[in-house]
Amino acid sequence: MFYGLVKKALGATEGPRAGAAARGGRSVADLAAPTAIEIGRDHLLVEGRERVRACYMSALPRHVSAGWLLPLLDMEEPVDVSLHIEPLPTGPIVRQLTRKLSELQSSRMLDAKAGRVEEAYRMVAFEDVARLREALARGDERAYSLRVYVLLRGKGEADLEMRQRQAAAALEGMLAAIRPALYEQWQGLLSAAPLGLDYLGRRRNVDTTTLAYSFPFASSHLGTGSGILYGINLQGNSLVVLDPFGRELPNANKVVFAKSGAGKSYFCKVEALRALLLGIEYYVVDPEHEYRRLCEAVGGEFITLSGARAAHINPFDLPERPLEEGEDVLAERVAALQGLVSLMITTPGEVLSSREQGALDVAIRETYRRAGITREPHTHRRPAPLLADLYEVLRAQGNPYGLADRLVRYVEGAYAHLFREPTSVDLRRPLVAFGVRDLEEELRPIVFYLIADHVWREVRRRPRPRIFLVDEAWTLARHREGARFLSALARRARKHYLGLTVVSQDVADMLMAEEGRAVLQNVAVTFLMRQDPAVMDLVEEVFKLSPQERQFLLSCDKGEGLMMALGSRAAVRIVASPQEHALCTTDPRELAAMQEAGRAWGRSGRGPCGEAPGRGLEGES
Ligand SMILES: Nc1ncnc2c1ncn2[C@@H]1O[C@H](COP(=O)(O)OP(=O)(O)O)[C@@H](O)[C@H]1O
Ligand SMILES: [Mg+2]
Repeated sequence: MFYGLVKKALGATEGPRAGAAARGGRSVADLAAPTAIEIGRDHLLVEGRERVRACYMSALPRHVSAGWLLPLLDMEEPVDVSLHIEPLPTGPIVRQLTRKLSELQSSRMLDAKAGRVEEAYRMVAFEDVARLREALARGDERAYSLRVYVLLRGKGEADLEMRQRQAAAALEGMLAAIRPALYEQWQGLLSAAPLGLDYLGRRRNVDTTTLAYSFPFASSHLGTGSGILYGINLQGNSLVVLDPFGRELPNANKVVFAKSGAGKSYFCKVEALRALLLGIEYYVVDPEHEYRRLCEAVGGEFITLSGARAAHINPFDLPERPLEEGEDVLAERVAALQGLVSLMITTPGEVLSSREQGALDVAIRETYRRAGITREPHTHRRPAPLLADLYEVLRAQGNPYGLADRLVRYVEGAYAHLFREPTSVDLRRPLVAFGVRDLEEELRPIVFYLIADHVWREVRRRPRPRIFLVDEAWTLARHREGARFLSALARRARKHYLGLTVVSQDVADMLMAEEGRAVLQNVAVTFLMRQDPAVMDLVEEVFKLSPQERQFLLSCDKGEGLMMALGSRAAVRIVASPQEHALCTTDPRELAAMQEAGRAWGRSGRGPCGEAPGRGLEGES
């Protein structure tokens, strides 16, 4: 808007409109420019109303960290900050520093000779200069001239003073300072405008690191245009909205790391509730059985895979129809069953010999044949056989390689409950949670195989956005099969419109195995919440945290954390509505209160959170 005046100031008369101006015509710039600017000692008065003060940064902090200019930019009041950066030749700077170093050195020697105690600031300056000189000489750093100009605005004198005090306060904590450009307001205005011109020349020399840390847009905003609302950016209070399946993100995978009780599961539940609204489906592996309430409230399916009430999943089930014309569904199923059975009958690390595999292949096909199922798609609607039928077939074939004997405990023995009957659960719900609490160690890899098998079957049958959430994934990643399962999911997910979310208490657990690292390499969003001091060093190293970020993660509140995505980082607070909170919290006091209210509600017909009666409020029995 100052364009017209600026042009005059710069004496610019060329350009396509110059002719028109010379002929007495008016350009758009003339129309947009203010009618008058009064230039004062320490401010400019624009059109007699708005006061503008051009300031420059007079002192830089001794220590800076990433985004140190942010407090200034995130001030509630409007401020313009402009940075002028110019690379400097290293040689003269090193010579200048050498001279400075000798000056300081001689002053120190004089002090020592006279028996005076050395001045503290001189000691510090000597060390700083020596360090910088060395870094420059080595080529680790380069020198730049940095000029920071700040334009403050206010309605009146008092308002402007207050703004300046606020800006000074924002910088004071870091020992940085700004000053008004006295008698140079006009030059200050031009220097702060986005013209690439510097009339003030208040330079400070800085090194590459400082310059990089001064980059002001490091973390202020995080998000894509639309998607799931995750929470509030603690810097500047903007909304953090991300679309996991949007174009901006390379994939829909995500990791959430935090100590126990920091709010990891809560975050995932809030995300699930909001994702469902956008038509994103959800699978959850739930080792704590805490997603049941959520499942029930949204019409999902909670599948207990352990204990006396374990659901039945029949691995022999065939998809209702092939995904593509001419696809051999039966052959695929036979291969998947081979994988499952070999997991069941071998010890970790052992593999079936090719003869054993051959015998198993024959037996599985025979089992299907006995059930009247062949390659013909119309036979696929017939009731699928069961593991017990395979066992019978193996017996009838004379127990080749002892396969029947090795399979018996999954048919009649201790582990038979999962596979005894036809599938008893509906896996085609928008939210399906697999409860794996108290699952026998030996069954874990088998159950994960079953879950993965199921997920792939569904994913291929009905393409739509889905998130596969593994809560407390360290319980899974501890086992080789579990870790492999996760890394395979992370790698293959994107192609199948699937996003993997891995939640864990401990980064170390996830990083121990190669597979865990593979997961980390394939995530688009990382959310770190409050960390345990014991693992902080590792977290800091892996995620390259600044000292401030480290401090934040050690002390932040429940539900707060550092979200990293799209190349930026933001401190975020997860915020839920009371209705969402009621479904997501696991606080026993709140649950008890809700249950009490639910009972009263049964009597009065009014609900505490607007939910339908009899749903969602009772914990798992
Ligand atoms: N963003 C939040 N807002 C309000 N309460 C929260 C929030 N995050 C967590 N909590 C509270 O903290 C409890 C523990 O959180 P939870 O997600 O179960 O921890 P974690 O899974 O990290 O162990 C929740 O049940 C809830 O009561
Ligand atoms: Mg949890």
